Amino acid sequence: MRGELITIIIVTSLLILIGCSGLGEYSCLKVSSCSCKLVGLGGEIGLIDLSPLQDRSLSASDSSGYVYRYFPCVPGDLGADRGTCDAQNHVAICQIQPNKSITEEPVFTSCANQSTAEFSVQSISPISLLLDFSKGEFDDGREEYRLTKLEVNCNYSIDSQLIALGEFPTLTYNFILTSKYACPREVEQLEFSIGLGVLLVLFSYSILYLFVGVYINAFWLKKRGFEIFPNYHFWVETPFLFRDGFVFCLSICYRPIGTRIGTKTELEDSFDYREYNRIE
Ligand SMILES: *[C@@H]1O[C@H](CO)[C@@H](O)[C@H](O)[C@H]1NC(C)=O
Ligand SMILES: *[C@@H]1O[C@H](CO)[C@@H](O)[C@H](O)[C@H]1NC(C)=O
Ligand SMILES: *[C@@H]1O[C@H](CO)[C@@H](O)[C@H](O)[C@H]1NC(C)=O
Repeated sequence: MRGELITIIIVTSLLILIGCSGLGEYSCLKVSSCSCKLVGLGGEIGLIDLSPLQDRSLSASDSSGYVYRYFPCVPGDLGADRGTCDAQNHVAICQIQPNKSITEEPVFTSCANQSTAEFSVQSISPISLLLDFSKGEFDDGREEYRLTKLEVNCNYSIDSQLIALGEFPTLTYNFILTSKYACPREVEQLEFSIGLGVLLVLFSYSILYLFVGVYINAFWLKKRGFEIFPNYHFWVETPFLFRDGFVFCLSICYRPIGTRIGTKTELEDSFDYREYNRIE
């Protein structure tokens, strides 16, 4: 009884652990400020590389009328007199405040330092990454650097689309980039990798189960011989239970008409075989 209880507890915890480790085990290892290697439990899934977007002019405006430009991979350079939006400041995203009047000049502010790019995986199906940047232009009033959070979504039917969500909280700029270049190359391996990952996890937990079980049986419960294997009787009997159940199912589902199992049934008696054979 005690052994069975222990088994139930161990098996339940294993299932929970497997469930938990199946999620959140993905990461995207930074290769450059615009590319990362998506890896899961089963190894590398593919490379996400935004570099083809370099020659697109990615811009978007938010509801407050600010215009933003995103420069993937290589720091942008809007030229002299463009505030912090130059290569010297490693700008990845530039905020442009259009001139409100003819006399006013537009204001250029860096929201993101290209070199600070950090990738994390938000979701794997559909694939969505979060690209975090920090060290945008320093704000003297708040004594803080500007930050950017760019959600990068994979969609095979979109070349590139940048949406500016605006500034929230203060000095944090939020965007959504949707593109086919945000999809990992060699994505067809994805299913395989997840399957392999689950198998690997299952395998490692089985080994753990065996070791912990043997330890408990040998040192705690002082069992000897084959009995030291965890739930020895259960595992020895299970294959036979499976076999019996399988055979039983087969006998119900696939029993050909006219085959006799045991004694004749009333159904067989009332069935006219000559009639049946004529149809065949
Ligand atoms: C951009 O980030 C890099 C790496 O953190 C840092 O070395 C560099 O000084 C930063 N540049 C600016 C202008 O903040
Ligand atoms: C903004 O200023 C530039 C020159 O700095 C000028 O060419 C442009 O027409 C101005 N735009 C508006 C909307 O006032
Ligand atoms: C990809 O974009 C198309 C067109 O906007 C949209 O219809 C589709 O639902 C998107 N797919 C995903 C997975 O978001």
